[in-house]
Amino acid sequence: MTHIKIAVIPGDGIGKEVMEQALKVLNFLQEHDSSLQIETTIFPWSSDYYLKHGRMMPDNALNILKEFDAILFGAIGDARVPDDVTVWELIMPIRKSFQQYVNFRPIKSLAGIASPLAIGRDIDFVIFRENAEGEYSDSGGRIYHNQPQEMTIQNTIMTRIGIEKIVQAACDYASKNGKTKITSATKSNAIIHSMKFWDEHVRRMLEQGSATLELESIYIDALVAYFVERPQDFQVVVASNLFGDILSDLGSALVGGLGLSPSANLNPEKDFPSMFEPVHGSAPDIAGKGIANPIAQIWSLALLLGHSGRSDLEELIVHAIETVLREGNVRTADIGGQATTAQMGDAICQEISKMNVSTRGV
Ligand code: NAI
Ligand code: MG
Repeated sequence: MTHIKIAVIPGDGIGKEVMEQALKVLNFLQEHDSSLQIETTIFPWSSDYYLKHGRMMPDNALNILKEFDAILFGAIGDARVPDDVTVWELIMPIRKSFQQYVNFRPIKSLAGIASPLAIGRDIDFVIFRENAEGEYSDSGGRIYHNQPQEMTIQNTIMTRIGIEKIVQAACDYASKNGKTKITSATKSNAIIHSMKFWDEHVRRMLEQGSATLELESIYIDALVAYFVERPQDFQVVVASNLFGDILSDLGSALVGGLGLSPSANLNPEKDFPSMFEPVHGSAPDIAGKGIANPIAQIWSLALLLGHSGRSDLEELIVHAIETVLREGNVRTADIGGQATTAQMGDAICQEISKMNVSTRGV
C-alpha cells in the first residue's frame, strides 16, 4: 500500500489548466490501483490570492506544507502583480526553507518531436542546478535612491556545503544510472572569486568520490554553444543557480520546448517535502484558451511519484507520454497540432489504461 499526501498549488494562468490534467491522471491511476492511496489538498495561493489578501500565501503556509510528503506546483505569474513578488513570496520561500537544493531537469529527445537542431536524436542528459543559494540569494541593496550616485550591489553567495551537496547529488545520480562524466558549468576566468571557489570544490568532490567519474569544466559561454553543436555528448551537467536556470531552458528548447519539460526541486535527505513543477511559467499569451500542453505538468507528477518510491508509476506515465507523442494523433499547438489541453490529458489516460495498470503490480 502506498500513501502519499500531496499539496497541490495550481497557481496562475495555464498553471491551473495543466494541473487539472495532472490531477486527472492521478485520479485515473488511483481508480485502477487499489494499492495507491493519494490524498491531495489544493491550495489557492496565486496572484488572485495576493490581490485579495495582500500576500501570495498565508503566514503559516510553510508550516502547513511541511506536513505533506510532496508538493505539486503549476506556475505563477500575472501582469497585475510584479514578477519579483510572485517568485520571492511563493516559489523561493518553499525552495529555500525546505532545502530543496537540487533542481533536477531531465533533457531527453522524444520520438515524434522534432528538435530545432540537425542532430535532433539521442539527446539524453540531466541538469543538476544548485537551487538554494548562488546568484539567486536575497543579499544586496540599493543606496542613494534617485541621486546621480545611486548604486546597487547584488551578492552571489556560495558555500562550501552548498556546492558539496549539489555535486554529491549529481555524482550519486551518475553512479546509480551508469553515467561516466560530469560536466561543470563555470566562468572562473572572469568571475574570479565565487566561480573559482565553485571549481575548486567541484574538483575536490570528484577527486574524493568513490566512483570514477570524469570531470569536465566548461566556461558557460562555450557550454551554451556546445549544447547546440553537440548536445549528445553530455550526461550529467552540474551548475550554479543562474547558469543552471539558463541551461535548463536551452535544454528544453533542444528537445521540443517548454510544454514538454518537467522539473523537480529536491530535498534528497527527505527532511522536507520536495516540489515538482513544469519548467514553464503561466503563459499569459495562451492562458484561458484551453490549449496549453499539459505534458510538462503530468511528467512532473511522474517525477513526484518516482521520488515517493513508485518508480513503476513514473515509468508508466512517461511511457504513456512517449507513446502518445510517437503516435502523433493527439498534439497540442506548441508541438504542431490542434488538440486541447483536456484532449491531451485524456489521450495519456487512455494510453495508461491500455498498459493495464492493475496487472503491472501497481
Ligand atoms: P512562459 O513559460 O510562461 O511562456 C513562454 C512561452 O512558452 C509562451 O509563448 C508560452 O505560450 C509558451 N508555453 C509555456 N508553457 C507552455 C505550455 N505548457 N504549452 C504551450 N505553450 C507553452 O514564460 P514567460 O512568458 O517568460 O513568463 C510568463 C509569466 O510566467 C511571468 O509572469 C513569469 O514570471 C512567470 N514564470 C513563472 C515560472 C514558475 O512559475 N516557475 C517560471 C517561468 C516564468
Ligand atoms: Mg527558469
